[in-house]
Amino acid sequence: MKGLGGAVLVFLLLNLTITCHGQLRSGFYLGKCKGGNQYFNVEALIRGVVQEEFSKLPNGPTMAAALLRLQFHDCFVTGCDASLLLDGPSSEKTAFPNLSVRGYDVIDKAKAALEKACPGVVSCSDIIAVATRDAVVLSKGLSYRVQTGRRDGFDSKKDNVNLPSPFISVKDSIAAFAAKGLNKKEMVLLLAAHTVGITHCALIRNRLYNFRNNGTRDPTMDPTLFQFLSKKCPKSDTTLGGEIALDQTPNSINVVDNGFLKQVKARKGILEIDQGLGLDPLTAEIVRSYADGPLSQKFRYDFGAAMIKLGGVGVLTGKNGEIRRTCNAVNNPKPLQPKPAGPTPVQPKPAGPTPKPAGLPSLGL
Ligand code: HEM
Repeated sequence: MKGLGGAVLVFLLLNLTITCHGQLRSGFYLGKCKGGNQYFNVEALIRGVVQEEFSKLPNGPTMAAALLRLQFHDCFVTGCDASLLLDGPSSEKTAFPNLSVRGYDVIDKAKAALEKACPGVVSCSDIIAVATRDAVVLSKGLSYRVQTGRRDGFDSKKDNVNLPSPFISVKDSIAAFAAKGLNKKEMVLLLAAHTVGITHCALIRNRLYNFRNNGTRDPTMDPTLFQFLSKKCPKSDTTLGGEIALDQTPNSINVVDNGFLKQVKARKGILEIDQGLGLDPLTAEIVRSYADGPLSQKFRYDFGAAMIKLGGVGVLTGKNGEIRRTCNAVNNPKPLQPKPAGPTPVQPKPAGPTPKPAGLPSLGL
């Protein structure tokens, strides 16, 4: 009995640690989305849109990759406030690391469905968190209880975008995650989101031909991986180049599992930071443990817990922020150039569907 009581207590404590971040809670929208005489299940509505897009679009199965990256890029810059979704000539979307972010259209579609059901109730930042979880599940990941109650931010500035580069050292990456309240283990688990999706040759060419400016390849890279990558990404090419799966496990590019960590352990990490996780003594043991060690069976559960923690970074709750009507514009945009007197000030364009940012070629979705 004592043992059982202890187990229940541990379970409750564990549950608490993963269910309370700020004022977020699971089930925040229960009973809040009422249209006419009907109550709608907010999370079910979002799931419906995600499932439809997943099965309808040719690149639907890449949705987990799109949304995981979108959530990370939103949460790491001024918190999980959907600031990444705002349009504007110098908004976050226009910053270099965001030019290849995708998945805005899925969030817009879910928002449109929710505004139809119960206008002005569900935030865009909550839609990001819920839709990402749903896409993870469709990619064979384990479900996790997303917490909701976020509100949307007002500001989105390119200059605020200070995301880690693929060449960051493990030590500096640990510091960047610690600044957001995420520990070393959570960092490894979150980077294991690279179990889905792709990168481009331009971001790994230095590892192939001029590692740390020494004119040769990264000696830590597995030789068969080097053979493969050097064919796909020739030295003479100076363009963005082809797409390379971040997880080299065969047929696993759209599967959320610990395959990426196994590859990193086998020196088949693609980005410099990915391989760094497996080599640096600061993180190597965590990689080993989740790849095929004692924690490997827990990977999918712990990944979900780390995603819940990421979703709690810098959130706006209560009376802060707002519930946007459309995800790409604040409800009451400020005039672009307020004039002291004279004709009507120039107003930003009314909200419409999110245009794709110019720059890198669209990666679809
Ligand atoms: C030190 C931290 C990180 C760095 C330096 C980093 C860097 C990158 C880079 C360079 C790419 C390829 C972009 C391109 O070629 O267009 C990428 C892709 C991706 N990243 Fe990260 N990342 C980090 C952490 C994360 C985290 C925490 C997540 C999610 C929780 C994440 C999810 C993804 C996903 C899913 C893709 C594939 C996107 C797609 O296929 O469209 N990354 N990352």
